[in-house]
Amino acid sequence: MSRPLLNRNLAGLGTTIFAEMSELAVATGSVNLGQGFPDTDGPHVIAQAAADAIMSGRGNQYPPGAGIAELRTAIAVHQRRFYDLAVDPDSEVLVTAGATEAIAASLLALVEPGDEVIAFEPYYDSYAACIAMAGGVRVPVTLRAPDFRPDLDALRAAITGRTRLILLNSPHNPTGSVFTRDELARIAELAISRDLLVITDEVYEHMVFSGEHIPIASLPGMRERTVTISSAAKTFSFTGWKIGWITATSELVTAVRTVKQFLTFVSGGPFQYAIAEALALPDDYFRSVSGGLAARRELMVDGLAAAGFEVYRPAGTFFITTDIRPFGEVSGLDFCRKLPYKAGVVAIPSSVFYDNAGEGQFHVRFAFCKKDEVLKEALNRLSALRSG
Ligand SMILES: Cc1ncc(COP(=O)(O)O)c(C=O)c1O
Repeated sequence: MSRPLLNRNLAGLGTTIFAEMSELAVATGSVNLGQGFPDTDGPHVIAQAAADAIMSGRGNQYPPGAGIAELRTAIAVHQRRFYDLAVDPDSEVLVTAGATEAIAASLLALVEPGDEVIAFEPYYDSYAACIAMAGGVRVPVTLRAPDFRPDLDALRAAITGRTRLILLNSPHNPTGSVFTRDELARIAELAISRDLLVITDEVYEHMVFSGEHIPIASLPGMRERTVTISSAAKTFSFTGWKIGWITATSELVTAVRTVKQFLTFVSGGPFQYAIAEALALPDDYFRSVSGGLAARRELMVDGLAAAGFEVYRPAGTFFITTDIRPFGEVSGLDFCRKLPYKAGVVAIPSSVFYDNAGEGQFHVRFAFCKKDEVLKEALNRLSALRSG
């Protein structure tokens, strides 16, 4: 066969680092702080609601294409409750197979081949792949240590006549940066003046420790040009259920739904019923999500600093970025490949989240969505690094 099998837009994508690191974790008996999934399931009452839905025959057959009415209503109520955003559950909500499908369907719907998509790097790995699948062109704008703030002059300079949209992610994986109201307002100003769409990935919306989460759709003039994406995975600690959603104007929802219809059509029927209940949990639940993680952030900030890392304190998410230069190391990739053998801990080299070669090469990301005792064990192991 003379042609490569993989669509050429995707050549070089599909990082295997997560699989490599997870295999290394198993092979070496390491504590795995690589991939960002919790080691504790979400509330029992919500798991029970999913089981009840299955046993009582709710959602076992194809649910409606846009998602069940109960969940769409719960999503609309959530947007009103936390952000005072008015969303019509019938025409402005679409339930997806996780935020992952929401990202894919939104980009495939809104990007034509050759369109430029600006995203702040380092970025979540599906962004590059989905832009490529749509035939779009990635235009990275780099968030730089120590604060990982968006450089708005660089953003302005990155916009061309071919720019179609800006892809945002706040709270931001992997840096833990949370964009401020002022930063979002300036991004909004650019989007409006240059007539751009915005896709905003807000899956960590309830994991903010400093500052507050502000959906860019809540800023003046942004509702009509923004696709807001979120998911039950992180907030409710059920990453395997793959229930995500978008909220946007009915025109945008219709466009994204057209793609979604041919990707999965529908998914997760019984889980949709359970997440409708989860979104209605009392404020205490949502406070406990950020409260629990805030305590673990402190544990990690102190423990990683004591182990010898330079630590960049995250304002949100459950990731923490560190710098390995205090160990005399200059390649995060090499460092992460050695770490399981040297210390029995697995982390992810941040360079895999960048397009620009060299950016992020000194950085290593740890996930702290794990039990306290697991984090303490990891920190204890890492404390041997200095002496080793
Ligand atoms: C920034 C970001 N967006 C989206 C996702 C995927 O969310 P879901 O599991 O709902 O597909 C993740 C998961 O790690 C993420 O970190």
